[in-house]
Amino acid sequence: MDHGLTRDCKLQKFLAILCALNSLTFGETFSLENKVLTVNGVLDRSVELKCGDIDASYVFIWTFIIIGTHQAIPIARKDNVYEEASVLGIVTLAGSSLVINKLEPRAEGHYTCMAFREGTYLTAPTVYIDLTVLVPVIEPSLKIDDQTPVEGTPVQLSCTVKVGTQPITYIWQRHTILDGSITLHEGNTSILVLDPATRSHTGWYTCTVKNMVNEETSGRLYLDVTYGPDEPEISIKPYAISETGFAANELEEVTLNCSAASNPPCHYIWFYNYSQMYTGQMYVIPKISRTQTGMYTCLAQNAHLNTRTQSTISLTVYYLPVGSPTCTAQAHNNYKDVALWCSWPGGFPLAKLKWLQPNEDKVIVSNSNATLIKNGAQLQNGSSFTCSISHPSLKRNISCSTTVVMPPGGPNCSAVATKMNEFIMLTCEWTGGLPRITLQWNNNLIGDIKESSNIYVFKPDRTYNGRLFTCTALHPMMAEPADCLIQLGKLSYGGED
Ligand SMILES: *[C@@H]1O[C@H](CO)[C@@H](O)[C@H](O)[C@H]1NC(C)=O
Ligand SMILES: *[C@@H]1O[C@H](CO)[C@@H](O)[C@H](O)[C@H]1NC(C)=O
Repeated sequence: MDHGLTRDCKLQKFLAILCALNSLTFGETFSLENKVLTVNGVLDRSVELKCGDIDASYVFIWTFIIIGTHQAIPIARKDNVYEEASVLGIVTLAGSSLVINKLEPRAEGHYTCMAFREGTYLTAPTVYIDLTVLVPVIEPSLKIDDQTPVEGTPVQLSCTVKVGTQPITYIWQRHTILDGSITLHEGNTSILVLDPATRSHTGWYTCTVKNMVNEETSGRLYLDVTYGPDEPEISIKPYAISETGFAANELEEVTLNCSAASNPPCHYIWFYNYSQMYTGQMYVIPKISRTQTGMYTCLAQNAHLNTRTQSTISLTVYYLPVGSPTCTAQAHNNYKDVALWCSWPGGFPLAKLKWLQPNEDKVIVSNSNATLIKNGAQLQNGSSFTCSISHPSLKRNISCSTTVVMPPGGPNCSAVATKMNEFIMLTCEWTGGLPRITLQWNNNLIGDIKESSNIYVFKPDRTYNGRLFTCTALHPMMAEPADCLIQLGKLSYGGED
């Protein structure tokens, strides 16, 4: 091998020693251990290659060998940069150092610097340098194969960078308001596959490319994963539940709200017992009536995906019984006990009635009424009893009361005859009290049992002369029945003498 420096030897009348050096095969030279320096330069920037430790008394020559060739091109010598150097960049000398500004890609290769002291045969050690021209990465371009994928399908994001020295690292990031920036992957993969894409993948994406020189980030792309609607959730205001679902009170304003996760947001349609009622998320029933009890269905539709889901709730409308509750006392168990009676029939659901102070007494509870049985003898005159009433439509419980009263005095018996003694009217009276006094004539053998006042009318004949009539008054708070008597005298009759 004998080339490269030949021209220089001729042209510059260079010393034979340099020419002799040139006779070395560079391939062999580079294989000499520990002698090759590796220098990295960056495209368009500057690099300085040093020719060892030599002073100004040395003459030196820089040569360049393109990678893959053995052709050594002289590019500079002391005080002189050759034209051939211009392909490397803007080449200048700083003492014996070769300075390349605006480094060109073609500057990559092997450099040698040989030197000797002028006027002597003293040579400096030859310097061998491998220059690598690193190329910065430029802004990569990001592509998403489907920016609005359907949840469950795969999505591929690819990051392309046109130039940049390998190895290039790719950093994949997602940016959302909620989570900030999250790094999803960092490595040598320029393709990010989301398989399957889910709603949680929604957000702005960037890829950043990085090599030994620098890093650059792509512009943001939004990945809008479409999904849903999920099964809708129905809520009610005011909130109340029944055994079968939701409940509302008659005449209340009821708001049914339907909500289903969906992208893009879904549309809602409301049905009552399968007939369409309303379009919109919030269905307001201003004054609900008992006839609006039934099934309410919310249908959620994602028009973009042409998908729909639905949920149904049962709504029961509660209403109060008419009027107001009744509390009273009645004789019970053959006038031994008092039955305290609390009642409010109707409504939905039935009102719940409860006697306060029941102690160990017997309470009979049936639909819409509660009966408390008290032993009459033990009842104190003027005792009050209260029944408490609850119903889902009442904000708070209401109550009614009753007071047991034993009226003063006793039964009053009297007899009145009509004109000509055609009819006789026996009257027994004892008014007031609660329970009322029960009055009967002749142990109930004649007339009816009546409360407070018992009038018995009959058509007399002679057999009634001197007849005794007894009125018996019964009341649970009386230990013994009370009587009053009336005796008829000798009667004269119309038409007789
Ligand atoms: C709606 O359905 C409920 C039971 O599912 C029924 O009780 C109610 O009467 C129905 N209402 C109408 C107006 O059909
Ligand atoms: C029971 O009390 C009432 C008033 O509460 C009174 O008028 C009546 O006389 C009392 N009866 C008896 C038998 O004491």
